Amino acid sequence: MHVNRLEKIWLWLGAATMVAFFMTLLTLSVRAVIITPRDGATIDPTKVWQTPPFDHPGLRQTGPLTYEAYYVGQVFSWQPQSVTVPVGSTVTFFVTSADVVHGFTIPDEDVNVEVLPGWVSSETHTFRRPGDYLILCNQYCGIGHHTMGAHVIVR
Ligand code: CUA
Repeated sequence: MHVNRLEKIWLWLGAATMVAFFMTLLTLSVRAVIITPRDGATIDPTKVWQTPPFDHPGLRQTGPLTYEAYYVGQVFSWQPQSVTVPVGSTVTFFVTSADVVHGFTIPDEDVNVEVLPGWVSSETHTFRRPGDYLILCNQYCGIGHHTMGAHVIVR
């Protein structure tokens, strides 16, 4: 079968691209940077409810308009269910899971982190407008996944 020279080049380019993608994926997964949350803090997932500060999930004020919020995800809810902060507050969310993989997200805001058992994920966000911000789970975690919500009230 005769294959045109340009077609051969094109096929080799395609194959080389696939090999490059595969090697990139392999390298990243071996280095575990794909699944490791940004700050890299770890926690024993079987002892989340006994491990400070997650034994008392909730809001801690750290400055005039700065807060830390500690969340635990467990099928099918977030703890705390609701926190209230003033307009202009900067909140750093620290989120972990007591069971399976969840996704901590505030739609339309720049908050979206994977929540993996054994890891503490974090994300900082400034709430500039008042409102009732819904926190959702965006990783399918079971039959009640769609009910897994909480609220950040900004007033
Ligand atoms: Cu938790 Cu879906």
